[in-house]
Amino acid sequence: MAKNIVIVGAQWGDEGKGKIVDILTKNADVVVRFQGGNNAGHTVIVNEEKFVFHLMPSGILHKNKDCVIGDGVVVDPVVLINEIEVLEEKGIFNGKNLHISKKAHLIMPYHRRLDVSRERLKGKEKIGTTGRGIGPAYEDKAARIGIRCGDLLDETLFREKLKRNLTEKNHYIQNVLHQVGFEIHEIYHSYMAMAEKIAPFIKDTSELIYTAMNEKKKILFEGAQGTLLDIDHGTYPYVTSSNTTAGAAPVGSGIGPSRIDKAIGITKAYTTRVGEGPFPTELGGKEAERLREHGGEYGATTGRPRRVGWFDALAIRYAARINGLDGLVITKLDVLDNLKKLKVCIGYKYKGKKTTTFPTDAQQLDKYTPVYEVHEGWLEDTTKIKKFEKLPKKAQKYIRRLEELSGVPAIMISVGAARDDLILIKNPFTR
Ligand code: GDP
Ligand code: IMO
Ligand code: MG
Repeated sequence: MAKNIVIVGAQWGDEGKGKIVDILTKNADVVVRFQGGNNAGHTVIVNEEKFVFHLMPSGILHKNKDCVIGDGVVVDPVVLINEIEVLEEKGIFNGKNLHISKKAHLIMPYHRRLDVSRERLKGKEKIGTTGRGIGPAYEDKAARIGIRCGDLLDETLFREKLKRNLTEKNHYIQNVLHQVGFEIHEIYHSYMAMAEKIAPFIKDTSELIYTAMNEKKKILFEGAQGTLLDIDHGTYPYVTSSNTTAGAAPVGSGIGPSRIDKAIGITKAYTTRVGEGPFPTELGGKEAERLREHGGEYGATTGRPRRVGWFDALAIRYAARINGLDGLVITKLDVLDNLKKLKVCIGYKYKGKKTTTFPTDAQQLDKYTPVYEVHEGWLEDTTKIKKFEKLPKKAQKYIRRLEELSGVPAIMISVGAARDDLILIKNPFTR
């Protein structure tokens, strides 16, 4: 039985983290986002109503659970306020259970502009970012010039920091990008107006989590993006600008690493990726189209079609190592229901040489071709199934093989987008 659990994406994001965090929140007291920003799009579907959360922790639909936007997150207040207002309108947000770290950095309008303009300049070399200003915001944090949520509480300090930043940013925007720069007054006034709305939530969230832990409360840490998008451990340079792996949870929420009891990885029963970069098991043509349409594989944040491909056991075994995974949640099994044959990548080949270890170097990874084993499809509807033993035998075999190849036991199988479409094998909070 675990008290504090971290959920991470085991692939390139969009594995279904939102759905699983929503389900596990039932057993938790506090849900914490610890990295990333509104590049994330986490979908939760309850009673046929669909929510996509970009900054709000995916536990927010449960009453009386504390939801924390932790120290390691980058916050675009425009997006956050929009999410608050949508939830307020629906009568879901009570104004009491949201907590935003003072230390979380702000995404500023110039970050968004720099993100989009730089991508345009890169042309064919672009990363395919979400254009939300994530990279430039983390750059400023590392350069020690970032503006933090806590700065919103001090008008003079905020204005001073903004002024210093704008001098440099406008210089670059005007002289390098040849664009019109930003007006300090405009940004200042719009951010001060937004500060009024979110100031009550800005606090020392590390202390809040620490106190909750001392009270023996259960904490769920909600990762964004996925292992292969981690800035250190992902397919660099085609990655995001934060650490997305389990080790980032304590750092990004201000607690000690020894307090995390379990790491759970979410993986699709196949693979998807949005944006550029190597993807060895990627499918093309009609096969890809069919899987994309069937899985509804369009980005929850940008609406871009996701690239789709077969399950890559090397990638998952790698994610198991980097995150220290204790359990796997396999999502979207139902999407494979009507396929006659399924492939699973069990190795890579390059110039006659074979490897079974995932190479993260993007240039190297791009050269590999996958070695597949073929599985027979089960050709049955799995969407109503609630017990593992009730799955078609061929689907059971497929899952067992994914467990064997990844070296991690499956603790849940998701067979549909709704909260109830789930085969629960072992709840990590209670068993
Ligand atoms: P996240 O970023 O990891 O939270 O994942 P996204 O929300 O971006 O993408 C996952 C998509 O798959 C969403 O549209 C979910 O509603 C949907 N989804 C999640 N689990 C399942 C499942 O088991 N089956 C099907 N068909 N859809 C699912
Ligand atoms: P969730 O949390 C999938 C990808 C972008 C791009 C790269 C860098 O919903 O799983 P960025 O804007 O972060 O600088 O873009 O990372 N990316 C995601 N892909 N799911 C996400 O989040 C992503 N967040 C960023 O497409 O390739
Ligand atoms: Mg997503």
